[in-house]
Amino acid sequence: MPITVPKLRHWKQPHRSIVALTASDFTMAQILDQAGVDVILVGDSLAMVCLGYSTTLPLTLDQMIYHVQAVCRGVTNALVVADLPFLSYQVSKEEAIRSAGRILKETEAQAVKLEGGHPSAVQTIERLVEIGIPVMGHIGVTPQSVRQMGYRAQGQTPDSAQLIYDQAHAVSQAGAFALILENIPPDLARQITQSVPIPTIGIGAGADCDGQILVTYDLLGLSDNIPPFVQPLINLRQIITDTVKAYSAKVHTRNNLGIVEN
Ligand code: KIV
Repeated sequence: MPITVPKLRHWKQPHRSIVALTASDFTMAQILDQAGVDVILVGDSLAMVCLGYSTTLPLTLDQMIYHVQAVCRGVTNALVVADLPFLSYQVSKEEAIRSAGRILKETEAQAVKLEGGHPSAVQTIERLVEIGIPVMGHIGVTPQSVRQMGYRAQGQTPDSAQLIYDQAHAVSQAGAFALILENIPPDLARQITQSVPIPTIGIGAGADCDGQILVTYDLLGLSDNIPPFVQPLINLRQIITDTVKAYSAKVHTRNNLGIVEN
């Protein structure tokens, strides 16, 4: 059964934890979907792991839409969520509606995600939800603010923890259907999870969220810059390197590569 926003909104523990991963192309999306992943996020991290930028900031809305379209072609059951790129939603609520609206009109994604729990982000979420665009929130470390706060863990002091706790409630009250908590202390993530009515999906936020998300390239050990809180379950980078070397050796020695000769 395809996973929908109304279904996910009520997906709180002790229901089975939400399994979420990122994808940016058709084949990866198809593999994740067929493996039973619940939520596929076309995250703007694709700017780094897929396009080679050093931050997520350069990604454009057109690039995002192109990748979301490819991902959606590979997905049958998972809920596909598209990240709103930097500067596609911050300038005004009107621009946020136009950007999120383009994603819903031009792709099969069912929802958008935007970063931030400050008042203007909350008002934007409220407006998008009001006109029928489902929004996933994202607080804690928000990579689009890298120039201001780096990738340092957030919520480490009582004031910062209180701010994030309040932001979680504000984002939830604004109508977000789920909330990503990135790189905050597990205790804080647990308190938020226990007190908001929407599911929390953690990344580097401990085991007590309602679900977990990772950048798939990190989980698979493909990225060459994996965040310290991620433990890859396999080193695909090494496996691919070894496989390409084995292929090269076969080519160099003119070994049979399985090509049928006429
Ligand atoms: O862009 C992304 O992949 C994300 C996840 C890390 C949550 O926002």
